[in-house]
Amino acid sequence: MTTRTEDLKEMKELVALLNRYADEYYNQDNPSVPDAEYDRLYRRLKELEKQYPEDVQPDSPTHRVGGSGKADLEKFEHKIPMLSLDNVFNDDELSDFVNRVAGGLSRDEREVEFCAEPKLDGLALSLIYQNGVLITAATRGNGRIGENVTAQAKTIKNIPLSLKGDRIPSYLEVRGEVFMLHKDFEAANEFFRKRDGVKAKLYANPRNAAAGALRQTDPAETAKRKLTFNAYFVTECVGVELPDTHYDRLMFAASLGLPVNREIKFGKGIAFLREYFADMQNRRMDLDYDIDGIVYKVNSTALWDVLGFVSRAPRFAIAHKFPAQEQITTLNAVDFQVGRTGAITPVARLEPVQVAGVTVSNATLHNVDEIERLGVKIHDRVVIRRAGDVIPQVMRVVTEARTGNEKDIVFPTCCPVCGSALERMPDEAVIRCTGGLSCKAQLKESICHFVSNKAMDIRGLGDRNIESMIDLGLINAVNDIYHLTLEDIKNVSQKTDDEPNDGDSVNADSVNAGDASSEDSVSGQTPDGTGMFDMFDMPASAEKKEAEKAAETAGDESGEENGTRRAKKAKIIGEKAAVKILASIDDSRTRPFNRFIYALGIREVGENTAMILAREFENIYELMSADTDRLLSIKDIGEVSARHIVNFFREKHNQIIIDDLLKSQLLGGSGVIPQKVKPDEADLERIKDNPFNHKTIVLTGTLASMKRDELKAILQGYGATVSGSVSAKTHLVIAGEAAGSKLDKAVKLGVQVMGEDELLKILGELESL
Ligand code: IVH
Repeated sequence: MTTRTEDLKEMKELVALLNRYADEYYNQDNPSVPDAEYDRLYRRLKELEKQYPEDVQPDSPTHRVGGSGKADLEKFEHKIPMLSLDNVFNDDELSDFVNRVAGGLSRDEREVEFCAEPKLDGLALSLIYQNGVLITAATRGNGRIGENVTAQAKTIKNIPLSLKGDRIPSYLEVRGEVFMLHKDFEAANEFFRKRDGVKAKLYANPRNAAAGALRQTDPAETAKRKLTFNAYFVTECVGVELPDTHYDRLMFAASLGLPVNREIKFGKGIAFLREYFADMQNRRMDLDYDIDGIVYKVNSTALWDVLGFVSRAPRFAIAHKFPAQEQITTLNAVDFQVGRTGAITPVARLEPVQVAGVTVSNATLHNVDEIERLGVKIHDRVVIRRAGDVIPQVMRVVTEARTGNEKDIVFPTCCPVCGSALERMPDEAVIRCTGGLSCKAQLKESICHFVSNKAMDIRGLGDRNIESMIDLGLINAVNDIYHLTLEDIKNVSQKTDDEPNDGDSVNADSVNAGDASSEDSVSGQTPDGTGMFDMFDMPASAEKKEAEKAAETAGDESGEENGTRRAKKAKIIGEKAAVKILASIDDSRTRPFNRFIYALGIREVGENTAMILAREFENIYELMSADTDRLLSIKDIGEVSARHIVNFFREKHNQIIIDDLLKSQLLGGSGVIPQKVKPDEADLERIKDNPFNHKTIVLTGTLASMKRDELKAILQGYGATVSGSVSAKTHLVIAGEAAGSKLDKAVKLGVQVMGEDELLKILGELESL
């Protein structure tokens, strides 16, 4: 229990903090905290104010609606105040709202009709038309007094300067949202990068960009940034009788030439609202603009007067906010994971935090360049963003929250698992362990990859079993899998989650290859596009699957029920499970050539490249002796992959492994590919079905997660042609930081532009297909 004095102190601090954040947000277009953080503090203040009404501070932000407006824009007094909306954050609160409305109208909730609309993430704008001509545009300001931005608004292409049709009101005020489409946001930042170089102050998100653009004192500056307007309210209309539903009023506005969002729908009761919310939440990532929730409005305008208003918001409407995509948390530590090809990936261990409905406790820091770019230290407060299924990213450091106790992140000087030297190739962002298969982490990852379901698809050999087999010396390379006996497998005791790992400072549990276990959770790619690491806490269903897998391998002798946590403690692989594993190993001897090549784990040889090679070469030895020129003569094999292929087969160690695999009767035993292991048609179909196949893609700018050459190889691996210049034939431009003129051209030509977030999301989805 806190004392009254403590509570009052907290109230005062909250007021000061929130006022500072509001100033950053409204007046400087440069917020230092995510909205969710503001909302959380605001709610806490409201809670305290409810408890101590007599102590509400005179300057509390709960008294006012917004910022005070920039001094240098002319003020405009709204005839009808521009109100705000109350928010709900979950289904219970939504249900309270609907019941309140139904109660206020003395109706059954199922009878009340609502209009549901996207809550556009920009800033409110009022437009006034006199005799069909736009005479004023004003921002909301504090709700009563806003800023006159008529000249600026006139630069927004989809705002009509005069209305069309034959039912033009003598006076009309509509309100709506000004926002920026994703592609225009990218282009706006690109404009600054070009103009101001490394010193460019970039907009953090499309909303800030929209606010910054509209509130430029020089309208010519506004015109340089492309804005979009959508009307969401007809406030006043003289000379034409308005329809009596909100929806029809918007349709009337649309008939006059005013842009209205196409997603707006109406329906009855909470069931409709829930369905609309779920649908929009699903499709949110496909929209080309940001929305931060849904707005519900009672459709019948006659009922608005019945319901009335509460302080600054109407009772007939509410905003249902999506779970915040950004949150602040503390970075507790950084671990260094070692991937299949030795890539060392720094992973931030975070104080667990809910972001967009998922608990996030890890986030990749990608590589040493990214750590430097972020300037992040251990114990820093950091902004974490997770949009949709995109893996969580550390966006920035909340430098204002620094206490002086933060510590630099020290990159290891040798491999954290095997102690070998590290190396960095000049054209790569990643630092690698040079230990090769003598590094346990790399060995384990390469075996996990070999047995994974898109490679040799050997069932029952989860990463814990593999780890134990390596520890027991049963497996030293992939070929050893085919020498395992029933006795060997039965003797394997699995590592359990409860056991401490072998004293490695690296988290052995998280050194997970793309095997079955990591497919269950949302995973991210390591910089070389090979290993996968878990970024989220495992969702409940995935945890169950994982446990079931453990139970399956533990077999009947463990005496454990098929269930959840208990099964994880199983130790010995039972006889029945061992027989199954052995049968699956046996079965894998006839996997097709394309899978065999993919399973070898050659760098930058994804499924597609493996398929191309399998269709090109009749004989494994022909492939093994192909030089770079021969490989480059094959359509869709790029330089990076060619170099890696040649290097891989040149290695004596790899030649011995392949010989031994053939002796174990893989590929028909002779290397000349017999019919039964010809490239698989079903695989071909599946591989072709990816968004990059047959696409001409241009890369521009710097990505945080990988170098351009690495991405090029990955995309080529998916069947894309990576080209150097943008033309009408370009299908897609992938734009990183400081993207150049190519992005401009893409925007001009209307070519699809994809940012790093979206790219990682798609790559992540493809990996876990
Ligand atoms: S209705 C009286 N509808 O959300 C209610 N607002 O506080 C007026 N917003 O800043 C608002 N999309 O600019 C309404 N479809 C929508 C909206 C919307 C975005 C913004 C609005 C305001 C905030 C609500």
